[in-house]
Amino acid sequence: MACTLTLDVSPPVHRWMDTTLERDVFKKTVPVLAARVPATKTGSLLKSDVMKKSLMDLPKVRSVLRDPHDDLARLVLLNVSEYAALSPEVRNFLQEQSASLVTHNLDLTYDYWTADEILHSVLPEELCKGSPSGFAITGHLAHMNLNKEYLPYKHIIGQIILDKNPMIKTVVNKLDSIHTKYRFFNMELLAGEPNYIVEHHESNCRFTFDFTQVYWNSRLHTEHDRLVQLFEPTDVIADVFAGVGPFAIPAAKKGCAVFANDLNPESARYLTKNIVDNKVASLVRASCEDGRDFMKKVIARARDHPFPAYTGPKLSKMQEKEEKRRLQLAKSSPPTVLASVDKSTVNNQSPRQIISHFVMNLPDSAIDFLDSFRGILSESTSERDLSGIYTEMPMVHCHCFTRELEPDRAQADIRQRVESKLGHKLGAEVTLHMVRSVAPNKDMYCISFRLPRDVAFAR
Ligand SMILES: C[S@@+](CC[C@H](N)C(=O)[O-])C[C@H]1O[C@@H](n2cnc3c(N)ncnc32)[C@H](O)[C@@H]1O
Repeated sequence: MACTLTLDVSPPVHRWMDTTLERDVFKKTVPVLAARVPATKTGSLLKSDVMKKSLMDLPKVRSVLRDPHDDLARLVLLNVSEYAALSPEVRNFLQEQSASLVTHNLDLTYDYWTADEILHSVLPEELCKGSPSGFAITGHLAHMNLNKEYLPYKHIIGQIILDKNPMIKTVVNKLDSIHTKYRFFNMELLAGEPNYIVEHHESNCRFTFDFTQVYWNSRLHTEHDRLVQLFEPTDVIADVFAGVGPFAIPAAKKGCAVFANDLNPESARYLTKNIVDNKVASLVRASCEDGRDFMKKVIARARDHPFPAYTGPKLSKMQEKEEKRRLQLAKSSPPTVLASVDKSTVNNQSPRQIISHFVMNLPDSAIDFLDSFRGILSESTSERDLSGIYTEMPMVHCHCFTRELEPDRAQADIRQRVESKLGHKLGAEVTLHMVRSVAPNKDMYCISFRLPRDVAFAR
């Protein structure tokens, strides 16, 4: 007869808790059978095919213990509590190995069970189906989005998440409200330290910011990467709604020159810190202006105070050393050796004074800002004749929401709104990228298009 009896290691049920988590009540003693064998025979038990299905295999539980009564013996724990549950083959094998069977009490406590298991034993049964244990992590902080039926248990839920994830120090719940202007979430502390200044790593960059004061969304990571990959290292980028720099700083790390702007003074403050921390101060200029003003001024700023030319990829320490050595060698050698110096690091371009990309990630209203492009390069706006240097128009990457969920209809809706705001039809160079679904009836997109020349030079 095959062994079917399994051990019940589920946590005890304590559905009476609501605001305070009582960890001590999570205790359970599970009697299990153990095969007592001489220490030298432990290996043959553990490796035996016959025993495979009968050995204890529980996470965080050691399955071989010292026999408390005999230093030379070991207890190999089995996954049953009764002799009757062992198959005849297993019984025979144990007999051949001169194993005796004893009962061992397995003491399980709060630390043993997972967050989900503990949650299921404290929440009312009807709430156990849709478990609330999902959260996103930003730095040391976990943020949850609890449905209202879970709110009476929010502190217990937060405490369990905190206990079960050692790298998390603070657990918050996002509130429904979002700051209307600066787009950050309002949140309440559920458990842990009331410390909201996080250090978060994305795309090989370090971002520090106060999560209660600025916008940040880790789910946009792939969108940040996607746009940055479109940029050439020689490009100049104007990031109109830059936040704390998730487009601007990785772009600068690859060599781009960036004008990064955000109206929220706290975003601009942390953006400045992040620029310094990521050692891209020579490539990113931060500002704190309304997007419209920034769009109008940035053209003249690039023209009047160009960024230095791109000088090739940043060298690693080893490459730098090697380059120094080669230059040294070149200096002290005849001209034939000089010719072998790597040309890729030699600066032979002119300063960067034209904007190649505008990034506009304010999905709620970025389209409304598009009319600011009208006449942006005209002589009357920029007080300069830019027709000679803007031989190629900048690309615009504008994020937006739509309630049209079918791709063709979404495209038609977004294109129509963009063209209406620009006051001009878009040209051939248009792509639409679905970023993510933000609600059951709302999707986020990024429309990328070449700014029509007639719009930019409109009088
Ligand atoms: C959706 S967030 C995007 C931030 C960042 N680009 C990112 O991807 O995480 C939009 C940003 O626009 C800023 N903002 C809102 N209104 C603005 C305006 N009129 N001018 C400039 N920035 C604005 C907000 O403070 C916020 O940081």
